[in-house]
Amino acid sequence: MLKGKLVNLRAIERKDLEEIMKWVNDQEVTKYLAAFLYPVSREEEEKFLERAMSRNDTEKNLVMETKEGVYLGQISLHKIDWKNSNAELGIVIGNKEYWGKGYGTEAIKILLQHAFNQMNLYKIYLQVFEFNQRGIRCYEKCGFTKEGKLRKNHFYKAKYYDVILMGILKDEFEKTNK
Ligand SMILES: CC(C)(COP(=O)(O)OP(=O)(O)OC[C@H]1O[C@@H](n2cnc3c(N)ncnc32)[C@H](O)[C@@H]1OP(=O)(O)O)[C@@H](O)C(=O)NCCC(=O)NCCS
Repeated sequence: MLKGKLVNLRAIERKDLEEIMKWVNDQEVTKYLAAFLYPVSREEEEKFLERAMSRNDTEKNLVMETKEGVYLGQISLHKIDWKNSNAELGIVIGNKEYWGKGYGTEAIKILLQHAFNQMNLYKIYLQVFEFNQRGIRCYEKCGFTKEGKLRKNHFYKAKYYDVILMGILKDEFEKTNK
């Protein structure tokens, strides 16, 4: 388990299915995520869990929970590229009551610390929709900078939105988190 002051990051387990099912069909949560276009069934999530629980060199999905063990959501590294030493960050706090209370910032910092100092990665990057100001602010607090944007690359409720590209290098993380 990776431990912080507010949150811990732990391996995903079969018991997490109930909590995951609570948010995967909540459009106020999934509007910020790229992968959710259709309603999600329990069977689909069971398959996701099986994949997430199995050993995989290029994807790692962890559960964020409070110090009391309350499930908050998931944080993940995708496309782990061992040659170029980078990976893409994904995060979701499924329970909206826990938004804006610092959990996301701490969880990301814990994962960055692990990625840079245990996994020997050099860069973590992410994509965020331009309307996700909470996400952008959270990433900036962690030390991410904007690297560019994919213009009008995301279609949502009959409108196109920019997708912001953000990244952080190991030395930048060390400077901002001394
Ligand atoms: C994005 C997410 C992980 C951030 O985690 P969090 O715990 O809510 O974020 P934090 O509380 O650590 O930081 C959020 C910051 O944004 C600010 N904020 C909140 N709402 C905001 C808004 N509408 N506009 C601008 N800033 C906002 C908060 O005040 C806080 O900044 P501060 O500490 O300077 O006051 C979480 O909100 C989430 O899972 N959202 C839904 C899914 C999602 O967006 N995933 C990311 C996809 S790229």
